Amino acid sequence: MVEPRKTRIAVLVSGGGTNLQALIDAQGKVITDGEIVLVIANNSKAYALERAANAGIDSAVVLKKELGSQEAFENAIIAKLEEYEIDFMILAGFMTILSERFTSRYEERIINVHPSMIPKFCGEGFYGLKVHEAVLAAGEKMTGATVHFVNEIPDGGAIIMQKEVAVEPGDTPETLQRRVMEQAEWIILPEAAQRLSEKFRKERA
Ligand code: GAR
Repeated sequence: MVEPRKTRIAVLVSGGGTNLQALIDAQGKVITDGEIVLVIANNSKAYALERAANAGIDSAVVLKKELGSQEAFENAIIAKLEEYEIDFMILAGFMTILSERFTSRYEERIINVHPSMIPKFCGEGFYGLKVHEAVLAAGEKMTGATVHFVNEIPDGGAIIMQKEVAVEPGDTPETLQRRVMEQAEWIILPEAAQRLSEKFRKERA
């Protein structure tokens, strides 16, 4: 029997793209049943676009400001996902909220990495460094990261994987962010990507 093709993944980004890099580096190692075939950015200056180009991965820039509305913005994303026959997508530092119309179209086909132990420090307003600032302000001893499915509730979809990370004395939001990335995000995101890649590949067999 011919093996079904690898699962086709799109990664949606807004900024530096260190999680995208972790996914690229995991291809052929942790991620054996999927391949990243498209990177979509909502910011033309995102360094993640350079990471995609360096890895020979196609990318697209979709700007809400230019497109005029959330609906037009999401339609432009949908058109790209269809053009590249994407099976599932990964939000890796994608700093915009997607509508219910979009998330329900791709039920259990969108995953996100969030830099805290959901249900702590999540939901609207908790993104990037703000999460780590809040963790430090609350005097937490432990934090971590979560990979979860995306639904209409910000950071509210079912949890796929979590990993805890210690807060150290003297941490700044920046040092804590880096430790959470190194010890949690860059590990669990590729593992979750492989889990889904394997599931979709098996479904095609
Ligand atoms: C990551 O820490 C990611 O978990 C966080 O933004 C950073 C993006 O970094 N995402 C959120 O806060 C989403 N709510 P990266 O561009 O270097 O991957």
